[in-house]
Amino acid sequence: MVAEGDKARKLVIIAHAPSPNTQRMVEAVMRGARHEDIENVGVRHVPPLEAVPEDVLEADALILGTTENLGYMSGALKDFFDRCYYPCLERTQGLPFATYVRAGRDGTGTLRAIDSITTGLRWRAVQDPLLCRGEFDEQFLAQCEELGLYMAAGLDAGVL
Ligand SMILES: Cc1cc2nc3c(=O)[nH]c(=O)nc-3n(C[C@H](O)[C@H](O)[C@H](O)COP(=O)(O)O)c2cc1C
Repeated sequence: MVAEGDKARKLVIIAHAPSPNTQRMVEAVMRGARHEDIENVGVRHVPPLEAVPEDVLEADALILGTTENLGYMSGALKDFFDRCYYPCLERTQGLPFATYVRAGRDGTGTLRAIDSITTGLRWRAVQDPLLCRGEFDEQFLAQCEELGLYMAAGLDAGVL
């Protein structure tokens, strides 16, 4: 078996998961991305407070995940951008990425903020953002799994 880090293409999931539901969501993203038919994609989850610019520089694609807190992305994901924006700015243009947001009742402020920062970085959104809003619904897990699968399959096929 090939170790995740040795696989040809790298998908890095930078996701804040502060609750049991959000933990299940990131696990679902990972499950989709590690589908047995996908052979050449290494998948890693890095919590945003632990993420460093090298995690982005080595990635062939990213999935960003966050809760909405006080009308904005989580402080954890914001901290990641604060630390990684300039070290990545000139070196990651065109990086394909996707986003999922868990929001109790809104989510739009978070989507707007992520769009603004990733536009500044010139990253390339390859999926509409997934907004999991309202009371927790088990459907969110299927949607997260699909997101992970889509990104990893795209990398595996060389189309991202
Ligand atoms: C301090 C705090 C602020 C929050 N602010 C918002 C908010 O502005 N908009 C929103 O949609 N949800 C907000 N929420 C709800 C969180 O998004 C939600 O609790 C989180 O996504 C975890 O969801 P879960 O209960 O399914 O685990 C907030 C939660 C907390 C604890």
